[in-house]
Amino acid sequence: MRLPPDRGRPVQAPAPGRAARVDSKPRMGAESGPIDAIAADFAANLATNFAAVIAPMIDSTLPLWIAHRGAGRLAPENTLAAFRLGAAHGFRAFECDVKLSADGVPFLLHDDTLERTSDRRGIAGDLPWSTLSRVDAGSWLGPAWAGETLPTLAAIARWVIANGHGLNLEIKPTTGLERETGLAVGRACAELWRGAATPLLLSSFQPDALEGARTAAPGIARALLLDRLGPGWFDIAQGLACVAVVTHHRWMDAALLARLHAAGLRALCYTVNEPADVRRLLALGKAGIDGIDGIITDAVDRYPAAALA
Ligand code: G3P
Ligand code: MG
Repeated sequence: MRLPPDRGRPVQAPAPGRAARVDSKPRMGAESGPIDAIAADFAANLATNFAAVIAPMIDSTLPLWIAHRGAGRLAPENTLAAFRLGAAHGFRAFECDVKLSADGVPFLLHDDTLERTSDRRGIAGDLPWSTLSRVDAGSWLGPAWAGETLPTLAAIARWVIANGHGLNLEIKPTTGLERETGLAVGRACAELWRGAATPLLLSSFQPDALEGARTAAPGIARALLLDRLGPGWFDIAQGLACVAVVTHHRWMDAALLARLHAAGLRALCYTVNEPADVRRLLALGKAGIDGIDGIITDAVDRYPAAALA
């Protein structure tokens, strides 16, 4: 993976057998020395560095229970109808998936393609927003949802902020557009959540998407999503200055939870639908103290009431 631009960029070392040259004045280009490299790096990332200093941090602390794709499977996923239904079941935080239209509009959709959750076919990211905005994203689940639209990120942001809800926004780039999507989503969120008091946590399985988001909006917290604990995951999370790791629930145990907390990382799990899995996660510790920090679920009609009983 590429490291973020404001960290880890190697300073040029002298070639083996050649002493480092001390220059009396700055030199640029192929013969640049270490000081030049640092200066060039700082200049190249001036906007980011400046933004990092002045950008207000947006709260990222979500409640324990997070409704997956709005309301799991009870309403068309990633639509405003789903968010409303999740809220009607008492959820105060939501997970959803965001990607870009061909003309750069961030909107909600899980898959690369449209066929599973709409009346259209093909790669969604190949279409302009003017076309995507007319897609029926509800009928696939049943006639009661006919005419439900793909929401823009802006529409969802307005809704969660107006209602005081938290959002775990998963950056789900069209394949090949990882960094570009992270940059665009970061930029959009910085604008949409400016001055908002409601929590926002960006997450992604794609380190390049998180790196893009960090570059565009360093004040918005990030979480690394993991479907397995592959090589280097911990260093990747730390290298991206993440505040949290979101794992498939099968990987979460007391040792992993303790390791994350010891490193100052929050521990969230997806997608936790079965009561036995919920009980196991809750038994790892006391929520808010040493326990699990977030449970993302489809079962919005089952939790949190039953889990808390
Ligand atoms: O963000 C948690 C979860 O949504 C990740 O998996 O495939 O449901 O987006 P997926
Ligand atoms: Mg998701």
